[in-house]
Amino acid sequence: MHRIGIIMNGVTGRMGLNQHLVRSIVAIRDQGGVVLADGERVMPDPILVGRNADKVAAIASQYGIGRWTTDLDAALSNPADTVFFDAATTQMRAALLTRAIESGKHVYCEKPVADSLDKALAVARTAKERGIKHGVVQDKLFLPGLRKLRMLRDSGFFGRLFAVRGEFGYWVFEGDWGQPAQRPSWNYKKTEGGGIILDMLCHWRYVLDHLFGQVRAVSCLGATHIPERVDEQGRRYKADVEDAVYATFQLDGGVIAHINSSWCVRVRRDDLVTFQVDGTHGSAVAGLTRCLTQARVNTPRPVWNPDEPQTMNFFAQWAEVPDNVPYDNGFKIQWEDFIRHVAADAPWKHELMEGAKGVQLAELGLKSWAEGRWVDLPELKV
Ligand SMILES: NC(=O)c1ccc[n+]([C@@H]2O[C@H](COP(=O)([O-])OP(=O)(O)OC[C@H]3O[C@@H](n4cnc5c(N)ncnc54)[C@H](O)[C@@H]3O)[C@@H](O)[C@H]2O)c1
Repeated sequence: MHRIGIIMNGVTGRMGLNQHLVRSIVAIRDQGGVVLADGERVMPDPILVGRNADKVAAIASQYGIGRWTTDLDAALSNPADTVFFDAATTQMRAALLTRAIESGKHVYCEKPVADSLDKALAVARTAKERGIKHGVVQDKLFLPGLRKLRMLRDSGFFGRLFAVRGEFGYWVFEGDWGQPAQRPSWNYKKTEGGGIILDMLCHWRYVLDHLFGQVRAVSCLGATHIPERVDEQGRRYKADVEDAVYATFQLDGGVIAHINSSWCVRVRRDDLVTFQVDGTHGSAVAGLTRCLTQARVNTPRPVWNPDEPQTMNFFAQWAEVPDNVPYDNGFKIQWEDFIRHVAADAPWKHELMEGAKGVQLAELGLKSWAEGRWVDLPELKV
């Protein structure tokens, strides 16, 4: 059994606590560590870092973590902890990653890797120069629904794949009339790194690149549908960034993708995100976990008749992809892969440059919206 010391920053936040600490690191510890290709095991030994000593101490004690601190510099100067992880605020990420890399740490972080492309590229460059291992969370690729889509694609189910329609979102309460908002208020403030374009387009970049074709151009329209909200302290504030984005993407191979992302939409679909993929030989619709298919030979022939109510139940005409393999939590799978990459040099493709591509798409999406036109995506280089 080997040990890997991980400095975890931002574990008092939603993602840091739920997905990274509890569902990933604590779960990996409970299962006896990560198994390497040679059968050896690696046990993560985290030290939790946060600003508020009481909060961090309470989390550490609740989850049986022996080490915590409010002193990031001291944590970074301990050579026994070789990995730095950040899931705190987006705006501080690039500077924190740079500090950690310059202290000789391997780094892993939440998306986006930075709040601007320049910063994202600078961090990727520093990581390359220092020769450390690095990675960014690309959790959607590990969702069972999207893994099933990948399997359909690899099996040739779609034939020639030509279109992708994504619908993401749900209603985020405004914070008044007795219903607290279910997203932190920073999401709606420009100065705090908010906006759904930066938040979601960096996800859509890796989903599109990895599953359907490299993104070559974007046309993007944002909107602030709810201009005023109420924060965690009950104070009214102006939402000065977009809370919905309607974006079209041109991918390699002539594939056209359109994805609506919104925090102002009421859900009437199978899941909080759904992707419909159409090809010459078949179509599929995936949510977070389930995936339904319709092959060319099973395609019904609906009739347009405004004089009669619809007789077909379209939802019943699809066949479900079975759960033939177990699907673990995606954040945990990616953590295990990263630990294998650091400990045993196992292959890894979710590097900081991949994260920079996401920031690039977000920036060019904002540019497309501002200028009201299609924008091409240039190749990125460090
Ligand atoms: N992969 C995903 O699906 C996904 C989903 C949501 C958020 N995220 C990303 O995770 C990150 C955190 O988002 P969240 O929704 O958990 O937010 P959150 O507000 O719940 O948590 C933010 C964390 O940052 C810390 N923090 C805030 N300001 C700080 C400061 N000035 N100094 C030090 N620490 C500070 C907070 O204490 C908290 O631990 C963001 O970068 C966001 O883009 C990713």
